Amino acid sequence: MISSGSPIVVLDSGLGGLTVVRAIRITLPSQNILYFGDTARVPYGSKSAATVTSFVRQIITYLSTYEPKHVVIACNTATALSLKTIQEEFPHLSISGVVEPGAKAAAEASGAGAAPVIGVIGTEATIRSGAYEREIIKYRPDARILCHPTPLLASIVEEGREDNDPLVILALEQYLKPLVQRGVQTLVLGCTHYPVYRGLIERIVGEEVAVIDSADKCAQDVRRILLADGKIAGDDKPKGFLKCFVTDDSPRFARLARRFLDMELDAPVWVSPDELHALSASPLAN
Ligand code: DGL
Repeated sequence: MISSGSPIVVLDSGLGGLTVVRAIRITLPSQNILYFGDTARVPYGSKSAATVTSFVRQIITYLSTYEPKHVVIACNTATALSLKTIQEEFPHLSISGVVEPGAKAAAEASGAGAAPVIGVIGTEATIRSGAYEREIIKYRPDARILCHPTPLLASIVEEGREDNDPLVILALEQYLKPLVQRGVQTLVLGCTHYPVYRGLIERIVGEEVAVIDSADKCAQDVRRILLADGKIAGDDKPKGFLKCFVTDDSPRFARLARRFLDMELDAPVWVSPDELHALSASPLAN
C-alpha cells in the first residue's frame, strides 16, 4: 500500500537520470527516492524500441515491490520509445517521462515572437522517434524544429570525461555548430546525460541561445502529479533518502555520481541483468 514514505522511482540507462534526481531532491526534499541506473546495458540510445521497452519493463517489475508512489522514466530515449506501452502495461502505477516537460519548457522559453527556431539534441533513437517534434508543436505549432542526433555524448559522460577534455570539446563543437549556423534560438538537451556539460554547451552556442534542461520541469511535473493524486501534502518532513541500484557492479558509478548530485552516495545495490530478466519473464510479473 502506498504511504507517505513510499518512494519515487527514477530510472535511466546509467548516470544521466541523476540530473532528474537532483532536481526532485530540490523540489521535493522529503521524498524518498530509489534510483535505478542500468549501467550494464547503457547506452539505450542505439537500441531498438523493443529492447529498450523490455529493459524498462524489467526494471519497473523489479522496483514495483517497493510500492512506489510514482515512477519517473528519466531517460529521453526510454520515454520516447516506451512510455506509452509501459503506462499501459502497469496501469496501477503512476508513471511519467521527460520528453513532455522538456518540450513544454522549450516552447515557453522561445518567447512570444513568431516561428521560433528550436533545436533538439539527443540520442539516435530519441531523434529518430520524432517524439520532440510531436510534443513541441502541441505548444508551438509555428516552431521550426531542428533535431540533431549526438550519439557519442552519453557514452562520453559515462566515461567520466570532464568538460575541459579536448575530446568533449571537439564532439560538442562538431555537434552544435551546424545548429548555431542554422539560427537556433532555443536548444533542448534531449538526453538526461547532457546537463553535465551545460556550461560548455552554453559557451559553444552563445548566450543568445536559451539552453533547456528538462530536469527542473520534470521535477515540477512530478510535484504536480503527486499533489493532484493527494500523495504529498506539505513538504516539511525530514530529508528523504536516496538509494541506488545498478546492473553493473563497478566503482565508477558512485565516483561519477558525485558530479551529478554534489553529495556522497552509499554503495549502490547490484542487480544482475539475469535477475531482472528472470523476474519479468515470470508469470507473476506486473
Ligand atoms: N540518458 C538517456 C536519455 O535521456 C539515455 C542515453 C543512452 O543511454 O543512450 O536519452
